[in-house]
Amino acid sequence: MTDILGLLREEHENMAKLLAVLRRQIEEFEEGRTPDYQMIQAILEYSLEYSDLYHHPKEDLVFARLRERMPAVINTVNDLEEDHRKLAARTRRFAEAINNVYEGAELPRERVMQMADDFLNASENHMRMEDETIFPIAEKYLTDEDWAAVAAAAADREDPLFGPQVESMYKPLHDEIDRLG
Ligand SMILES: [Fe+2]
Ligand SMILES: [Fe+2]
Repeated sequence: MTDILGLLREEHENMAKLLAVLRRQIEEFEEGRTPDYQMIQAILEYSLEYSDLYHHPKEDLVFARLRERMPAVINTVNDLEEDHRKLAARTRRFAEAINNVYEGAELPRERVMQMADDFLNASENHMRMEDETIFPIAEKYLTDEDWAAVAAAAADREDPLFGPQVESMYKPLHDEIDRLG
C-alpha cells in the first residue's frame, strides 16, 4: 500500500527546506542587497506547479475521508481546505510581485517584505496544523481501505525538484538546498 501519509510528511520537510532558502533570500532583500530573483521565482513556481497541484489535492482526499470518520474535526478540515485555496492565490500574487520587481518595477520594499512574510507564515502555520493535529488524527481513524482509496484517486507525477529527475529550471535551487544541507 502506498504510504500516503509518509509521502505528505516528506513533502512538508521538502517545503520547509524551500521556505528556509526563501527566508535567506528575503533577508538579502531586507538588508538592501539584491536577492537571487530566479531562485525565489523557482521556489514560487514549484509551489504553484507541484504543491498546489499535487500535494494539496492529495490532502483534500484525506480530508474528505476524515470528515466521514471523524466528524469532530470538520471545522479544522474545512479551514485547511480553505487554506489551500488561499495559499494558491497568495502564491500567485507574490510570484507576480516578484516577477514585476525582477523586470524593474518599483515596488515599495515594505510591500514585498509583507508579501514574503505572509507567504512564509501562512505556509508554516498551515503545515504545522497538518503535522501536529490533522495527520495524527488521520493516522488513527482512517482505515486501510480509506488509504487505498486515496492512493487510487490521487493524481501523481514525479516531483520535478525532489524526485529522481531534477528539472533543469530547478537545478540551481536543488544545489542551494544541498549546500544548506
Ligand atoms: Fe495542506
Ligand atoms: Fe500539506
